[in-house]
Amino acid sequence: MVLPRSRISPFLCVIALLGFWLNAAYFCSGRITSTYVRAEEKSLDMPLDSDVFRVPPGYNAPQQVHITQGDHDGKAVIVSWVTMEEPGSSEVTYWKEHSRKHYYKAKGEVTTYKYYTYSSGYIHHCTIQNLEHNTKYYYQVGTAPTTRTFWFVTPPPVGPDVPYTFGFIGDLGQTFDSNRTLTHYEQNPIKGQAVLFVGDLSYADNHPNHDNNRWDTWARFVERSVAYQPWIWTTGNHEIDFAPEIGETEPFKPFTHRYPTPYRASNSTAPFWYSIKRGPAYIIVLASYSAYGMYTPQYNWLEEELPKVNRRETPWLIVLLHSPWYNSYQYHYMEGESMRVMFEPWFVKYKVDMVFAGHVHAYERSERVSNVAYNIVNGLCQPLSSDQSAPVYITIGDGGNIEGLANSMTEPQPKYSAFREASFGHATLEIKNRTHARYGWHRNQDGFAVEADSMWFHNRFWYPVDDVAATKS
Ligand SMILES: [Fe+2]
Repeated sequence: MVLPRSRISPFLCVIALLGFWLNAAYFCSGRITSTYVRAEEKSLDMPLDSDVFRVPPGYNAPQQVHITQGDHDGKAVIVSWVTMEEPGSSEVTYWKEHSRKHYYKAKGEVTTYKYYTYSSGYIHHCTIQNLEHNTKYYYQVGTAPTTRTFWFVTPPPVGPDVPYTFGFIGDLGQTFDSNRTLTHYEQNPIKGQAVLFVGDLSYADNHPNHDNNRWDTWARFVERSVAYQPWIWTTGNHEIDFAPEIGETEPFKPFTHRYPTPYRASNSTAPFWYSIKRGPAYIIVLASYSAYGMYTPQYNWLEEELPKVNRRETPWLIVLLHSPWYNSYQYHYMEGESMRVMFEPWFVKYKVDMVFAGHVHAYERSERVSNVAYNIVNGLCQPLSSDQSAPVYITIGDGGNIEGLANSMTEPQPKYSAFREASFGHATLEIKNRTHARYGWHRNQDGFAVEADSMWFHNRFWYPVDDVAATKS
């Protein structure tokens, strides 16, 4: 139907004005709740006979191979694996690329544990030290004839302008969605060189009696990535495995037997909080489920740790923890508040660049927000949503585990929340030099190269201009 011109004009004017007004409101607010709505489906754990859980062939074949950084500055690697039939050897044979004849050996150790009616396989840990930077190494585990060979690349020497790319995954679990997340990370053309994992690994505790066989299947599932590049571990609530009803009263028992961390290298006294340097980044891992109040070991450690960070050596200061401090979803709301109260003034004082958390099964990126002025009597109860000394807080607990999406948000979207979306995915951070880093969030429904959210980070020590506002313009 063709309308006479005289009847079109007022109609179009009203529509155009309405559109302009809505657009203006949308962009002027600076806050984005993504309009993308993921179809609601239940996330199911992949069945035990899935190909991703396949046991490698051969008698006593090493399985569940994984690596993490083994020292403070990236010249050591901890190699871990499990043998099922017998202890075998805890030795690792390794050599530099193109130098197979000149191989080295490192001695490791083996451990086991019991959990209710479950008995673990033989869990091996071996630290390889004094590696050269920027070098590809092959390594072999197991005993003849059943050996398996993998490789990794060591990071560049610690320094302010060495490019390095991190991946971020949280709350992964072992569902079909978890598999999509890991595949997207692997296929992402922005190739992550190490994963900063923000806690909640296997979700074995969602199975009857914390079925620890699900710790084994998870480790076989992620081997395809973590045997080749280090994953830096943070503990989440699903690592606690505290179950007095079945006689299990030692918190973190499966995690500590399976996933060592280099905590002693940073003078920590427990494997749950520690730091590493990797290329241009100083990474501090905090423990949401270990004591952090005043006078506790974690509090004392962090108080001494933050002044040690030399931004002229490692410009990028990144903190990992599990329970987010700023979270506008209606899940786990304010669970991170007590830790925020304890540590946020230090994060602002020492100009932390970014804080990554998990726990909430969705994605959110904040403004540079702080709430350090509030002290219960001064009435300043609004967080300051543009504090250029404050970190950006990113929730990346969207790995795709069995508990499903957190898809209910608080309304209206708080001022401090820059972007939020309830979808599964992962993130990448390409550190270019001491001033600039490119950040992107990749939802599983998109192609591998698509960034559903992105931002250029400007370093808080070297270039502390308003980078969140620059991202919007
Ligand atoms: Fe969690």
